Amino acid sequence: MKTPIIAPSILAADFTNLGHDIEMLNNSQADWIHVDVMDGMFVPNISFGMPVIKAVNGIAKKPLDVHLMIENPDRYLEQFKKVGAEILTVHYEACPHLHRTLQAIKDLGMKAGVSLNPHTPINVLNDIIHDIDVVLIMTVNPGFGGQVFIEHSYKKIAKLKELITKTNSKTLIEVDGGVTTDNSKKLVEAGVDILVAGSSVFASDNPSKTIELLKSV
Ligand code: DX5
Ligand code: ZN
Repeated sequence: MKTPIIAPSILAADFTNLGHDIEMLNNSQADWIHVDVMDGMFVPNISFGMPVIKAVNGIAKKPLDVHLMIENPDRYLEQFKKVGAEILTVHYEACPHLHRTLQAIKDLGMKAGVSLNPHTPINVLNDIIHDIDVVLIMTVNPGFGGQVFIEHSYKKIAKLKELITKTNSKTLIEVDGGVTTDNSKKLVEAGVDILVAGSSVFASDNPSKTIELLKSV
């Protein structure tokens, strides 16, 4: 089985001690740092923005995987590049001109991701899969950490895997929401390349060890 990329979500980090938590990630087996941006419009929650991401990037030794849960993300692509995003993911549901948005992300030198809400079927990506570096399947409803994994997601992972294989594309599969050491193996077996985990990492007694366990499926 392939070793997954582990992307801990700092939404679940201790914001009064963010530097400490980033240092922990730097010294752990985490591959990417997942950064959740919420605007209070696309999702019913507001997280953090440019100044915080810039500060995180100043000390992070791993690539920032920035997940935009915002309306009209085209307005801010360049700014996210400037504050350090290496992978920039937009929501399918927030982009009427998805092809143009993905091109703009890539032209800025970032990897382009597309996220799908739980109700959005995989087949909306049929005609654009070749242009996507990462598909992020939301395995909870976006907006909050600590929610329960939606079991139907396994069917979506299988469909996405089939589409990627059939079209011979290089797109990676990322899952986000309710990922724990209990379901990580099954997810990787289903074809997932990247596991995002927030509360299961940061609320554990030993976050660094939890990252190691997630990776050693
Ligand atoms: C939810 C965010 C997730 C969140 C995951 O909208 O996109 O990245 O941080 O949190 P857990 O792992 O706690 O479900
Ligand atoms: Zn996320």
